[in-house]
Amino acid sequence: MTALTTGFDDTDDLAPDEPVTTKEGWRRFVEHQPVLPVLPPVDELAALPARARAELVQARRDYHSDLPLAHTPTMKTLLTTGRLLIQLNRGQISARRGMILSGASGTGKSTALTQLGRIHERSVRKRHPGQTGKQRIPVVYVTVPTDATPKILAVEFARFYGIEFGSRATMPDIVNTVCAVAARTHLELVLLDEIHNILDTRARAEVSDQLKYFAERLPATFAYAGIEVEERGLFAGPRGRQIAGRFTLINSAPFDYGTHEQRVAWRSLIATLEQSLRLHQHQPGALVALADYLYERSGGAIGSLSQLIRGAAVLAIDEETEQITPDLLDLIPLDHAATSTRPTRRRKASKPGGR
Ligand SMILES: Nc1ncnc2c1ncn2[C@@H]1O[C@H](COP(=O)(O)OP(=O)(O)OP(=O)(O)O)[C@@H](O)[C@H]1O
Ligand SMILES: [Mg+2]
Repeated sequence: MTALTTGFDDTDDLAPDEPVTTKEGWRRFVEHQPVLPVLPPVDELAALPARARAELVQARRDYHSDLPLAHTPTMKTLLTTGRLLIQLNRGQISARRGMILSGASGTGKSTALTQLGRIHERSVRKRHPGQTGKQRIPVVYVTVPTDATPKILAVEFARFYGIEFGSRATMPDIVNTVCAVAARTHLELVLLDEIHNILDTRARAEVSDQLKYFAERLPATFAYAGIEVEERGLFAGPRGRQIAGRFTLINSAPFDYGTHEQRVAWRSLIATLEQSLRLHQHQPGALVALADYLYERSGGAIGSLSQLIRGAAVLAIDEETEQITPDLLDLIPLDHAATSTRPTRRRKASKPGGR
C-alpha cells in the first residue's frame, strides 16, 4: 500500500466549497473577478418586471457585501516588495529573502497577503497560457493552525496540494512528497498566514525549524503574516535573529488621525471605498463628510471601516433608502477589538481639525 497519493485527478473542475487553503479554493479565489452591478435610472428600474428588479437588488446586495479592495499603503508596500523579492530570489539556490507582514488584527494583513498571491499567480498564468491549473501551481497559501507541530505544519502544505496519506505516512514521507509536487508544479511563492500561532505553540522551536527547512528546500519566496509578531518575540533568540536577517518586516497598522496628512490619507481611503458604492440615492462625498465619525467607530482599522460601509450599504438596500446615513452606520455592530478601544479613539478623533 502506498502511504501517499497526490491529489491530481483527471478533472479540472473546481468544487464550490473548497477553502482558500486548498489548491481548488485558491484557484477559485485567483480567478474570481468581481462584477460591477448595473444601476439603471429609477424610472427604467420601475418599468422592469418584478423578478428582474429582484435579481438586480440581489446582485447589488452581493456586491456590497464584498466591495472591491482599496490599495492601502500597506498593500502597496507588500506588493512592491513582493514583486522585487520574487524577482531577486529567482535562481538563488539558498539564502532567499522573505517578507513578514505584522500588525494588529483587522488591519488587512490576510487581504494584502492573498492579493500579492493573486496578482502574482495571474501574471504567471498570463506568461504560460497553455498550462492548466494542475501543471502549474505558482502560489501556495497555508495558515498555521493553533498548537501547530512540525507534522501538522507539513500536513497543512500537503492538504493545500490535496496530497492524501495513510496513517503510516511518516513526516519525511509527507515533506518529501510536498517538495516533489512543489518542484513539479513550479512553486514560486509561499504565503503563510497566522504565523503568530507558531509563537504560542509548545513546539515553537521545532515548528520554526520545520519552516526553515521548507524555506531551504522549496525554491520559492516566503511571505508571512501574523498578529504583532515582532512585539511577541519572533525575532528573539538565535532562531529569531536568523529570521530577522533574512526577512523584510512590513508594518500593518491602523490608519492614524493625528496630523493633517494622516487625516487626508483617511479621507482618501473613504473616498476610494465610497466610489465603489452602487446605491440609487447616494450623494458623492457624503461618506467622506463622515470621516471623523468613521474614525471614531473604527479606530482606523480598515477591517472595521469596511464592515461599517458594507453593512450600511446592505441595510440601505434592504430598507430601500438607498443611501448611507449616520443612523444606519450606528446600527452596524463591530468586533470587540474596535469597540473596546473606542474611548481612546474618540479623543484622537476630536483633535483640532476634527469635527
Ligand atoms: N485593502 C482593503 N480594502 C478594502 N477592505 C479591506 C482591505 N483590507 C482589508 N479589508 C477588509 O478588512 C477585513 C479584515 O481584513 P483582514 O482579514 O485582511 O485583516 P487581518 O489583518 O488579516 O486580521 P487578523 O489579524 O484578524 O487575521 C477584510 O475582511 C476586508 O473586508
Ligand atoms: Mg488575517
